[in-house]
Amino acid sequence: MIPDLWPARLHHLRRDSPKPEPLARFYGELLGDRVERLPDGNWLVAGRGRRLVVGNGAAASVPYFALQLQDAAHLAAFRRAVKKSEDFSSPLFAEGAFALTDPDGRRIVFGLPRNENAENGPVARLQHFVCATQRLPEMLEFYRGLGMVESDHVLEGKALSAVFLRSDPEHHSFAAFRAPESRPDHHCYETTGWLDIRDWADRMGRLRIPLWWGPGRHGPGNNLFFMIEDPDGHKVEFSAELELMPRDMAHRTWPHEQRTLNLWGSAWMRS
Ligand SMILES: [Fe+2]
Repeated sequence: MIPDLWPARLHHLRRDSPKPEPLARFYGELLGDRVERLPDGNWLVAGRGRRLVVGNGAAASVPYFALQLQDAAHLAAFRRAVKKSEDFSSPLFAEGAFALTDPDGRRIVFGLPRNENAENGPVARLQHFVCATQRLPEMLEFYRGLGMVESDHVLEGKALSAVFLRSDPEHHSFAAFRAPESRPDHHCYETTGWLDIRDWADRMGRLRIPLWWGPGRHGPGNNLFFMIEDPDGHKVEFSAELELMPRDMAHRTWPHEQRTLNLWGSAWMRS
């Protein structure tokens, strides 16, 4: 039986670097967020609807991402329904959080937030995480087995080249692209509309951070977007107007071509 993950949202992720403090300060400036040292020596970057843990590790790595479930009953029922979970201590989740390890060796953590301060600043909610993978069929099987629902497939011939999965009505909270190497691909902040994309792009201009891709409109998800690179080359996306899909809506299929990833023009092709 498929575990009942729905509805769950991305709450935070951990983004590692050999130089964690400068990376944390970069994200603090990028987003206008509070940066603080955590008791375990890692860094927290916290803003309105977004939290990032920055730790010491390989450049551009994302060792885990963390989904927030509805309440203690949802978390307990979900844990009973999955196999091979392990207790997991995240500085941002209450007791009872646990993790599973995906076929690429990345952890996905499930939990409930600790009491959190309301944060000020511009709205941009951490909304999805995407990875590139050498094992796309295994990754799809794993994430589907957690109760994520497929929203879109991208096919090259009969071979799957990307898959987008949702854990609530938002088009995807996770996606995976076929690639020659497994690595994190990007994470994304969802804004309140197209004018926010203008304002965030203006902020990038003031910070002298060049846009790396976009603005454009994705086919899968139909969202407006642009991306920038952090100091390790990990991509960060700002998005608006991401499509909503009911739980029982069947997935669609797109061809593996640039237009799929950007209806307005050229695209970042991972394979
Ligand atoms: Fe994205």
